[in-house]
Amino acid sequence: MDFFNHVQGRLMAEQTDVAQLAEQFGTPLFIYSRATLERHYHAYANAMPNRDLMICYAVKANSNIAVLNLLARLGAGFDIVSGGELERVLLAGASPSRIVFSGVGKTESEIERALQIGIHCFNVESPSELHQIAAIAERLNTQAPISIRVNPNVDPKTHPYISTGLKQNKFGIKMTDAPDLYRFAHQHQHLNPLGIDCHIGSQLTDDGPLLDALDILIDQIDTLASEGISLKHVDLGGGLGVPYIDEQPPSPAQFMARVDERLGDRNVSLVLEPGRSIAANAGILVTKLLHLKQGEDRKFAIIDAAMNDLLRPALYQAEQKVVPVVEQDRDTYTADLVGPICETGDFIAKGRTINTAVGEFLAIRSSGAYGFTMSSNYNSRPRAAELMIDGDKAYVIRQRESLSDLVRGESLLP
Ligand code: LLP
Repeated sequence: MDFFNHVQGRLMAEQTDVAQLAEQFGTPLFIYSRATLERHYHAYANAMPNRDLMICYAVKANSNIAVLNLLARLGAGFDIVSGGELERVLLAGASPSRIVFSGVGKTESEIERALQIGIHCFNVESPSELHQIAAIAERLNTQAPISIRVNPNVDPKTHPYISTGLKQNKFGIKMTDAPDLYRFAHQHQHLNPLGIDCHIGSQLTDDGPLLDALDILIDQIDTLASEGISLKHVDLGGGLGVPYIDEQPPSPAQFMARVDERLGDRNVSLVLEPGRSIAANAGILVTKLLHLKQGEDRKFAIIDAAMNDLLRPALYQAEQKVVPVVEQDRDTYTADLVGPICETGDFIAKGRTINTAVGEFLAIRSSGAYGFTMSSNYNSRPRAAELMIDGDKAYVIRQRESLSDLVRGESLLP
């Protein structure tokens, strides 16, 4: 549930009129709802009262420091995948002891920085990374907390580009390698094997595959325990889907009850790394209709948001709801909603029935996750502004880029 609703035909972000925001701040414009973000975080944080739980929001979904700061204030931890994300969460007030560091290609300097500030855990993605972390920890005369990200080879049944837990994917360490790596870490003075993790994919509308993966992780936990290696946490990654159109994913509470039941009386805490299910439906992308054009074959509604602002439709054939910002009582037409970028792949939605006139605004719903963070300057388009709504107040949390931002850092030859 989110706080973007039409009231008397006008789309409101909480108690704020979206059309007025679009007039004032220009389009394309990302608008986030504080109340929605908080509600989605609490849906996780309050779902498991009887087990230690750490909700590490996946920063990649939406990394604006105001978003991160709101979540940090609620006590969230963070799942990061780069030194850049690490600095962002620190700027936003995150507690280092609630940071987990994922990613297949951590660099020497990223590992060093994370060790120096004392993160909760490295989610280790290859045997060579484990050895590298051990060597850096030894050099710094410290101990690195680690979790092995295993590849459980389960099919998450989602788009192939966001499937990560199959054996043909680059992620994780194959199950058969894990026990020896844990034994190595257990004996190593500078490694502390704290947990086990996986992340099998994103936008999962059925939690069956996640629970299958959990069973595999539990098996590993039990085997290691019988050897005297007791892991403290299991981290199932992110992945719970959201309703973009009419999907019906399980709620965090439903999913976590099933996880809790499977973990039973094992003394392990749970870490989750949700991104999309916290941020996606907490944001909209507002765009203006620039032109209507009747082609030979179909009609095109040319809008001022493009694939550089919202890449998901072009990259994953993703579908998101598009609604008028101010509802009108007039005839509808069917059109492809396309952006100004010079690529046939630049579309936001195809074959949608709308009745918007040129100059009016549309809102692309569910754009709070993997929207701005995947945006670019392609075609030298400044990146959009981002607003956070809190009740009837609007805060600019990122200014629209200027034309001089576009060439910042570039220089002419002498
Ligand atoms: N943890 C790890 C290690 C991940 O790789 C991801 C997402 C997450 C957590 C968060 O997953 P979520 O709860 O958001 O599903 N750009 C794509 C999604 C890519 C997801 C990448 N990894 C999209 O727009 O659909």
